[in-house]
Amino acid sequence: MTDRFREHYGPVALVTGASSGIGLAFAEELAARGFELVLTARRTDRLDALAERLFSSHGVRTTVVGADLGDPGTPTRILEETDGIDIGLVVSNAGFNIKGAFEALDAAAMARMLTVNCHAPMQLAHGLIPRLRARGKGGLLFTASVEGLIGCPYSAAYSATKALVVALGEALWGEMLGTGIDVLTLCPGATDTEATAGMEGLANLQSPAEVARLALDHISEGPTFVPHAHYRAMFEALRARPRREALAGMAEGMRRLAGN
Ligand SMILES: NC(=O)c1ccc[n+]([C@@H]2O[C@H](COP(=O)([O-])OP(=O)(O)OC[C@H]3O[C@@H](n4cnc5c(N)ncnc54)[C@H](OP(=O)(O)O)[C@@H]3O)[C@@H](O)[C@H]2O)c1
Repeated sequence: MTDRFREHYGPVALVTGASSGIGLAFAEELAARGFELVLTARRTDRLDALAERLFSSHGVRTTVVGADLGDPGTPTRILEETDGIDIGLVVSNAGFNIKGAFEALDAAAMARMLTVNCHAPMQLAHGLIPRLRARGKGGLLFTASVEGLIGCPYSAAYSATKALVVALGEALWGEMLGTGIDVLTLCPGATDTEATAGMEGLANLQSPAEVARLALDHISEGPTFVPHAHYRAMFEALRARPRREALAGMAEGMRRLAGN
């Protein structure tokens, strides 16, 4: 299984947002599967330490690319710096959330979130798909969220960024059919990472290691994948309800949680 997996998606995987959480777990899982890595994030000290650790434990080589994806020019620089590296798997994972009543969100932070969560995966996919096509095999994996599957009240801006990722990933899944390139849009529910640290009312937290392992195991079963059974059932049920009912129920639940 591991040999066939590496043969199709290897030898090198690019993982954005590998300094913590789900991206870090992707790097660890891929190293265990024998991949060489290109890892990006702003906290390069963490990536350097991870690269050393993965070399000692699995003997894999890692290229670290310091990257602030809040700068719209960064995806182009990543493409230039990785030119000549035989990337077979692209894991576009970096992202962050800002939540709360929409009108109370900071406008500049919202703009940065659009750049990191939407512009970066779109530009990286645009630059790397021709390279994957030339190889005739490979994979593209986008980390979206269950919040991209339906508009989530009190998470309007974040939910909208992830809806873009779901639409992008689904459309590319269709465009890549028959090319040997698999596209999977991963939609995690609550996952135990720095992003959820301190958040109240979260149930059914999944470990990032399990999310990454399951996503890679299901990479050829796109277009979308929800890695936790609880969230799979919950969002299927929400999407099956009349939209007005589902949204009103979610908004009321969020207000109750906030004590309003
Ligand atoms: N945790 C959850 O419950 C959950 C649920 C659904 C979806 N997700 C999605 O999963 C992905 C990973 O999140 P996580 O939960 O693992 O959170 P995390 O532990 O906070 O990790 C986020 C990663 O994204 C990188 N990142 C954030 N802003 C960046 C920027 N401006 N430039 C470059 N890299 C940046 C961070 O690296 P640096 O800070 O070092 O730059 C870090 O490596 C995100 O897309 C998130 O939306 C998470």
